[in-house]
Amino acid sequence: MSSGGSAYPRRTHTCGELRPAHVGQRVTLNGWVHTTRDHAHFVFGDLRDRYGLTQVFFGGDDAALLAAAKTLRPEDVVAVSGTVRARPTENVNADRATGAVELVVTQLQVLNRAKTPPFEIRDEAKVSEEVRLKYRYLDLRRPLMQRNLLFRHRFLQAIRDDFTRQDFVEVETPFLTKATPEGAREYFVPSRLYPGHCYALPQSPQIFKQLLMVAGYDKYFQIARCMRDEDLRADRQPEFTQLDLEMSFPDEELVFATVESALAHSVKATLGIELKRPFRRITHAESMLRFGCDKPDLRNRLEIRDVTAEAKGSEFKVFRGAVDAGGVLRALKVPGGEALSRKEIEGLEAKAKEHGAKGLAWSKIDAAGKAAGGVAKGLEDGAGKAIVARLEAAPGDLLLFVADRVKVACAALDVVRRSLGERFGGVKKGVLEMCWVVEFPLFDFDEESKQWIAAHHPFTTPIEAYAGQITQEPGAVKARAYDLVMNGWELGSGSIRIHDRELQQRVFTAVGVAPEVAERKFGFMLGAFDYGAPPHGGIGIGIDRLIALLLEQDNIREVIAFPKTATATDLMTGAPTPADERVERELKIRFELPPT
Ligand code: AMO
Repeated sequence: MSSGGSAYPRRTHTCGELRPAHVGQRVTLNGWVHTTRDHAHFVFGDLRDRYGLTQVFFGGDDAALLAAAKTLRPEDVVAVSGTVRARPTENVNADRATGAVELVVTQLQVLNRAKTPPFEIRDEAKVSEEVRLKYRYLDLRRPLMQRNLLFRHRFLQAIRDDFTRQDFVEVETPFLTKATPEGAREYFVPSRLYPGHCYALPQSPQIFKQLLMVAGYDKYFQIARCMRDEDLRADRQPEFTQLDLEMSFPDEELVFATVESALAHSVKATLGIELKRPFRRITHAESMLRFGCDKPDLRNRLEIRDVTAEAKGSEFKVFRGAVDAGGVLRALKVPGGEALSRKEIEGLEAKAKEHGAKGLAWSKIDAAGKAAGGVAKGLEDGAGKAIVARLEAAPGDLLLFVADRVKVACAALDVVRRSLGERFGGVKKGVLEMCWVVEFPLFDFDEESKQWIAAHHPFTTPIEAYAGQITQEPGAVKARAYDLVMNGWELGSGSIRIHDRELQQRVFTAVGVAPEVAERKFGFMLGAFDYGAPPHGGIGIGIDRLIALLLEQDNIREVIAFPKTATATDLMTGAPTPADERVERELKIRFELPPT
């Protein structure tokens, strides 16, 4: 057999392919030894590739073949040829696609021996995260990881199909570029040809996609790699992938309809699930009030209510004190929450405290409809009764209160609400609840720098009615900015952009970027806006987060082939590695190393 110079029988089928229809055929499989079972006079094995597992049988009169089979170890790479035979009915493995047949091997060639791997190639193998990442190429052989990566491939293919159908053009934008303002720190790449100068790796293709609109490519998308040097969490990696898109002449609804179509198509094509469309819309203000956050898990039926007005006349120090100090009283009603023990409530309080709350006040509603336990005393006077009435509390309910500054009350009750979602809020796995959070504030106040900063990025348009307040009252200005949220995770952010140079400078001024600085940093972009920039807008959607959610994985590492650790290292390659003397010489850089 000619195999391009390689002297081994090349596969005629994959390890996931053989069925009863192949019985009697002579076939060749190439793959990894998954397991072997030595029965003295014959050997059974399972051969594996990414398509599946096939049972192979070594027996009969060929002593040399049997002896060779007995030397096989897991992860050896082999070529086997033989005849397909049906398994006796009692030996059919219904859990496996090839489970009705086996291959009776007559020829075995070991293509490569494997060392004993540090863990078994099985989903159930208990392996530490560190070992998995160090031997990622072995970890990726596990069926679950293969499913994740193959799903990711199919999903991206479906996304590309739908955007192409919607007349979008995929354009690649540069990696070696200039810093863009997305709020995180950039990675820099020193230039060899221009000592002392650096390229920045893109935090997103934001500026380039806006320039593509100026260039007239009115519907752009890209499956784009983004790089950010920021603190990492389960849903953050230093390099990640965005489905990035931009459109000319849009309004919010056009962006939403475009994204909803692409997601609905891809989710249907890959998971067979129909997404409910249109996705729900909720304003940022309403989301903060009812759910305490800007990424509400709408599967969770528990809701927060503001009872500040009712608390104004309260005799109860905890409630009244916060309200008098300009704060709020917010409550979370938990139907059936009387089942929670004091210890469990203390656990919730600890979480609330982690988010800045001084405490988590509670009381239960007894069978007579009266508050009992906890801060019941504070719910007995006129104001207290008004609070209970406003919450429409019923027997069996648990009431949880945070009296504090608005920000703290939101953050604390958000975490409490999330913790109770599965037990009391009806949160179920396998349900996808998507929503658009709209009308975000244009600016946030940064406590550290004591300055207003762009809440999304400084290219976002204010809602027209607020445009006059940009410099006078930045905190009041609402933006044409929106987030896509799914099951409590922020999946994407976008906005309708500023295409007017004068408005752009006013926004820069509000965030402390003087005209000269704006010119130096973004002059190329502002200049482009003088040549006929169309109204435009778009969104960036985190693909790793989206895939992780669709596959019900808790960490985006599970859907990325070669991810970094939580401290941004690559345990497999060892990156980042110390810079050697050549780097210093060529780039004319001296590294100052921390003392060891
Ligand atoms: P933003 O910075 O909000 O917007 O990012 C959009 C989405 O990208 C994902 N994401 C991440 N995923 C994994 N690891 C990270 N470190 C990480 N950072 C962000 C999130 C997030 O919602 N240029 C704008 C988009 C636009 O305005 O069109 C942007 O990048 O899912």
